[in-house]
Amino acid sequence: MRGRLHPRAGWGLLVAALGVTLAVAGCGERAGRDAPRDAVVAAGDPAARFLASHWRRPLESQGAAPAGFAQHESPLHPENCGACHQAQYEDWSGSLHSRAMGPGVLGQLGEMDAKATDRHQDCLRCHAPLAEQAASLATSLAAATAGNSPRGAHKPGSASPLHTEGIVCAACHMRGYRVYGPPRRDGTVPETGAGFPHAGWVGHGAFEDSRFCAACHQFEEGGYALNGKLLENTYEEWKASRHAREGRACQSCHMPDRRHLWRGVHDPEMTRRGITVSTISPRMDAMNHVNATLRMTNTGAGHYFPSYVTPRVVVTIAQESARGDPLKDTAKEYVIGRQVRLDLSEELSDTRIAPDEERVIEYRAKLHPRAARLAVEIRVEPDAFYTSFYRSLLEDGASGSGRSLIAKALELSLASHYTLYTVRQPLAGRER
Ligand code: HEC
Ligand code: HEC
Ligand code: HEC
Ligand code: HEC
Ligand code: HEC
Repeated sequence: MRGRLHPRAGWGLLVAALGVTLAVAGCGERAGRDAPRDAVVAAGDPAARFLASHWRRPLESQGAAPAGFAQHESPLHPENCGACHQAQYEDWSGSLHSRAMGPGVLGQLGEMDAKATDRHQDCLRCHAPLAEQAASLATSLAAATAGNSPRGAHKPGSASPLHTEGIVCAACHMRGYRVYGPPRRDGTVPETGAGFPHAGWVGHGAFEDSRFCAACHQFEEGGYALNGKLLENTYEEWKASRHAREGRACQSCHMPDRRHLWRGVHDPEMTRRGITVSTISPRMDAMNHVNATLRMTNTGAGHYFPSYVTPRVVVTIAQESARGDPLKDTAKEYVIGRQVRLDLSEELSDTRIAPDEERVIEYRAKLHPRAARLAVEIRVEPDAFYTSFYRSLLEDGASGSGRSLIAKALELSLASHYTLYTVRQPLAGRER
């Protein structure tokens, strides 16, 4: 059942009603244990075979750590890997993968029953997929219910609970305490056996394949869709693009030189690389109206710009005075994004820009007597959907310990806004 926001519903009830909405934008539903994707598990496709088992969730527990494995009190903790792989650890720490269990996710999971481990998987399968993380979450929820400690809190000096660490190194690189990674850059085969750190490792080309990322960035066929389009469709968008035909995998843009950066729409510099903007100088027509054309082309994103329903890109074109004041009633706003209702019942509009597509925005408005320039501004709100979602949770009665986490999440979602592009063009003969 897909719930609707109800003004008098309590926080817990809201969460129950919105169970799937929370997952939202990309976040999804699940039907039992993932079945291997038969369609892609074809003979002669070793990457598909590897990935079907690597990403079969819920993941199995790693088992017992081999003797001498850990350089750190917790062998699955990213800091353990970081002791030797410092560069990857630093990049990962700055990425959203390391923050995938932020207050917005934890605040929602915190409302679930500690024993409802199946429901936890609805989120954990993408946000913190290790079996050991699921166990850590269940323990922390049980402790919170018993009133022992606030959710996610830990003793100073000890490692953070594993589930709060998000998508840890081991989530992508370790199964049964065996390390997997891409083939060595020089093509040589690694040593294995005792004496070598983590007893060697297994190299596999699947790490260089876009399907590695699809495990969490693509809904399965038949998953939740609006207006005939899956809510999360990044891999298929990429597959239909020139980038796929030219062999440019997700990793080539998001992990350049194998770096663990994963920059996306939250990063202004990365987003600027996705889009090319050009404006055509404003001109006057016989009716004394200002006319201008703005063109935005998706030249550098390997999927729709933007891919998910969460971001909103707002283009504002307005006349301004010589002193730079915006002039009343001359501003026009155009939104680029896929807008959906908060309860995910309906798609309201879809103005995202497909790879290589050009979007033409026409401005036409009566010339203001004090106008000297036309100003164009493009603002990005990477978490726009969540901002509205958290606001309505708070307005509609979110309470208890979840409330402070959701308030924090709201603050973070607002802090992520930035200006992508601004340009001012003189209105011919009116600069004064
Ligand atoms: C004691 C140091 C040490 C620790 C701790 C360590 N590693 Fe390694 N790791 C190495 C060394 C050395 C290599 C081999 C590099 C080579 O020979 O190409 C390696 C190789 C790898 C590779 C393959 C690199 C490639 O070229 O594809 C991956 C992936 C990897 N480690 C991940 C991890 C993860 C994940 C952890 C934590 C669970 C971890 N390592 C902990 C030292 C360590
Ligand atoms: C299929 C993988 C998948 C599942 C399952 C999933 N998510 Fe997500 N989630 C994502 C991706 C990818 C993003 C980043 C893009 C976006 O915002 O949609 C994200 C972003 C989010 C965000 C915004 C970023 C942040 O950290 O605050 C929240 C909140 C969130 N998810 C909550 C949930 C909750 C709660 C569930 C379970 C009910 C869930 N998700 C299940 C993939 C998933
Ligand atoms: C979301 C999945 C994911 C996470 C999380 C992740 N990695 Fe990786 N890692 C990859 C992929 C994919 C590659 C291969 C990239 C390529 O070949 O373009 C890789 C490559 C590597 C390599 C080989 C680098 C090289 O230069 O040859 C090492 C070492 C490594 N990872 C260690 C780590 C460590 C340590 C962490 C945690 C701090 C970590 N990874 C977290 C997916 C991940
Ligand atoms: C285990 C699931 C998982 C895997 C595998 C995974 N991701 Fe993610 N990714 C997520 C989630 C969840 C988020 C959102 C984190 C958040 O903000 O809470 C995310 C965030 C991102 C972002 C940041 C987007 C932004 O809003 O700025 C990028 C870029 C990204 N992933 C790319 C990749 C690429 C490329 C790969 C493959 C090498 C990959 N991911 C593999 C789950 C995954
Ligand atoms: C040609 C380079 C390129 C390729 C290939 C590419 N991306 Fe991106 N990606 C970008 C740029 C640039 C952005 C920032 C603009 C935007 O959000 O579209 C981005 C943004 C994102 C985001 C942020 C969320 C959003 O709504 O846009 C995610 C997640 C992501 N990419 C995942 C992937 C995955 C998964 C693949 C492979 C299936 C992939 N990307 C392929 C360049 C690329």
